[in-house]
Parts: sequence; structure tokens; C-alpha cells
Amino acid sequence: MEIEWGYIAEWANLLLRWLHIIAGIAWIGASFYFIALDNSLEPPADGNPRVRGEQWSIHGGGFYYKRKYVGAPEALPAKLHWFKWEAYWTWISGFALFVLIYWGQAGTYLVDPRVLDMPAWLAILLSAAMILGGWVAYDRLCRSRFGEDEAKLLAAGAAMLVAVTLLATHLFSGRGAFILVGVMTGTIMVANVAMVIIPGQRKMVAAMEKGEAPDPRYGLWGKQRSVHNTYLTLPVLFLMISPHYPMLTQHRYNWLALLLIALAGALVRQFFVLRHSGRSNWALPAGGAVAVALLFVLVAPRPDARFAGVEAPPFAEVQALVAAHCASCHAARPSFEGIASPPKGVVLEAPADLRRHAAAMRVQIETEAMPPGNLTDMTDTQRAQIIAWIRAGARVQ
Ligand code: HEC
Repeated sequence: MEIEWGYIAEWANLLLRWLHIIAGIAWIGASFYFIALDNSLEPPADGNPRVRGEQWSIHGGGFYYKRKYVGAPEALPAKLHWFKWEAYWTWISGFALFVLIYWGQAGTYLVDPRVLDMPAWLAILLSAAMILGGWVAYDRLCRSRFGEDEAKLLAAGAAMLVAVTLLATHLFSGRGAFILVGVMTGTIMVANVAMVIIPGQRKMVAAMEKGEAPDPRYGLWGKQRSVHNTYLTLPVLFLMISPHYPMLTQHRYNWLALLLIALAGALVRQFFVLRHSGRSNWALPAGGAVAVALLFVLVAPRPDARFAGVEAPPFAEVQALVAAHCASCHAARPSFEGIASPPKGVVLEAPADLRRHAAAMRVQIETEAMPPGNLTDMTDTQRAQIIAWIRAGARVQ
């Protein structure tokens, strides 16, 4: 048995993605839970001044009673549960997956010569600089005087997101740019846990062990970063699934699409945060719906002048085009370097394959998501011919 690198990479992809989703669900689940808990606390029944609030709940057939302290409790409990490995493993698995796909095959996934032609090493370097730079800039911002005023910080953070999105979408392939903004934001979220929240909590616990009162600033800083993470969660989740939607990632105004979706996600999250504390502001999800509706109109397919006025060629010609431009990857045994099995199981060889996948092919060809980075140099006329053939009913004889 001869095992190729492409086959191993496929397994690494599968296992990392699986782990990433499991860890991500655990992390985001815990984080949503604590925010909901925080926002639904009631004043303590026993009037204990050290207790900020308490909550009774029922779940999985059991009753739970939780209290949140102002600062710290009278004494440290023997066992204290920490929440950090969910976040760390989400990042470790996610970053490894990013490296495997977007750096391992930068020429296919990260670079798009129609956006900007650059060598793979430069794309890797630039994307690494953006991931690191994003955290450094955000962290500086929070620690600057902007950090003391939530409204100013929000404005500065939003400006940063706009700048980063414009930069990424003008440097990299559509899907590469979306994932990169997602990786950058996800890195900020995990770094908030690893560099601010957990170290602060460690210092609080250490002070208590020495019998001193912990500095309440650590609690406040931790809370600030944790709130930021809340608003970033839904946008990041969308960015992680965005490669499935070339209608957005490949669009001419993909940067605007990214920003509108991020806005919708943050508004919806804000709605839930308020709702947990008993207030419902329906203007928020309405705003999110408007953002999505704008996007719906923005990316709606319009007759594309580039692909108009072309007659459907005979099937044999279509088959030859697909063989030349798609089948190096989309074959039962792909010949393209680094592709071990037909991507997404899409084989485009026999006439029946072309007929079956016609609708999906049209989306991929029209949005120019395929061939990735136009690796096989398809011309607009060739795209137009295949599209015309599909429009005319994708007949195979
Ligand atoms: C260099 C290799 C390569 C070439 C050439 C290529 N593809 Fe793909 N194709 C891929 C990869 C990789 C994916 C999976 C993308 C992903 O992970 O989302 C894919 C996915 C697809 C999908 C499934 C999309 C989905 O998300 O379900 C379709 C349909 C498709 N390609 C059509 C085409 C067509 C049509 C052509 C020729 C015009 C083509 N591809 C050329 C690599 C290629």
C-alpha cells in the first residue's frame, strides 16, 4: 500500500475539522451559558452583600443553584472549575486546519491572480502578519484610553474590522479573505481568554491564597474582553462556514457582504443578551434582517454582460472544456498535485456526471469560485459556453 501525502492531508483535514467543531461547540456553549446566567441573576434571597446575584434553574432532571460574587467569595473553595481548554483547543485545531488548507495549498485557496497575483510564500507571510497584527492592534486599543469608553472602543473596533476586511479582500481570494478575517477574529477571541481573562483570574486566586483582597480591575478587564467575545461569536461562526457560499465570497462587493453579515450577527447577539436580562429590543433583529435583506439584493444574480450573447455549443465541446478545466481535480482519480480524491465528491467525467452536477457547476462557474484561483486559466467565453449549455437544459447528446 502506497500512501500519498494528499490522502494523509485528507484525514488530517477530517480529524482536525471534527475536533474543531467539538471544541468550538463546547467553548461557545459554555460562553453563551455564562452570559445568559450573568444576565438573569436575581438579588440574593439571603441579602448577602458579597453576592451580586443568584439563579435557580432546572436542567436534565436536576435543580441547580448558582451565585455570583462581587469580587471574590469569603474563602476559596477546595475545587474551582476553570474554563479554558475549550477555547484553546478550538484555536489549536482551527489554526492547524487553516495551515493545512490555506497555507499548505496557498496557490489554490489563498491566492487569486484575478484579485492580486503573488507567490504563495508572500500570501502566507502576509496572512500570518495580519493574524498577529490583528491581535496586537486590538489589544493595544483596549489598553489605550479608548478602552475606558465602550462607545469609542466599539467605533474603533468597527473601523478596524472595515479596514481589515477591505485589505484582506483586496489581497486574497474571496474564500481566503473570509476565512482569514475569521481566523484573525477567532485568534483575538482566544487570546482574550489566554492573555487577559485567565491570567487575571490567576492573579485573583493567587491574591486570595495569600489572604489578600483581589484587585477588582482584573475582574473588570476580564469581563470587558468576555463581552467582546460575545459579539464576535456569531460573525466568526458565519465566516467559518462562508467557503460554502461563493455567491458571497466571490462577489465583487464581497467586502460589503462580509461587513453586512458581521453587523447582522452582532445585532442578533445583542438582542439575545438583552433578552436574557428580561428586555426585548426587536429593533435589533429587525436591523439584522435589514442587513441580510440588503445583502440578498446586493448579490442577486444579474444577467452578466461577460457571459451574455453566447450560443450553447454542442455537448462534445462542453465535455472537452470540462475535461480541460475541471477534471484534473474532479475525476475519480484526480491528476492535480495534492488532490487525492474528487473534491466534495464531485466527479465531472461522464456525461451523466455533468448533467447531474449542472446546477452546482453553474454556481461555481458563474461566481468564478471554480476553478480555484482560475488555476486552469478559463476564459470568460469558455465560462459563457458552459453556462449557456446549462441554461439550455444541460443536454448530453
Ligand atoms: C485545482 C483543482 C480544481 C479544479 C481545476 C476545479 N475544482 Fe471544483 N473544487 C475543487 C475543490 C478543492 C473543491 C472543494 C472546495 C471546498 O472545500 O469547499 C471544489 C468544489 C467544487 C464543487 C462543489 C462545491 C460545493 O461546495 O459543494 C463544484 C460543483 C465544483 N468544484 C465544480 C468545478 C467546476 C465546474 C470546475 C471547472 C470549471 C472545477 N470545479 C474545477 C478543486 C477544483
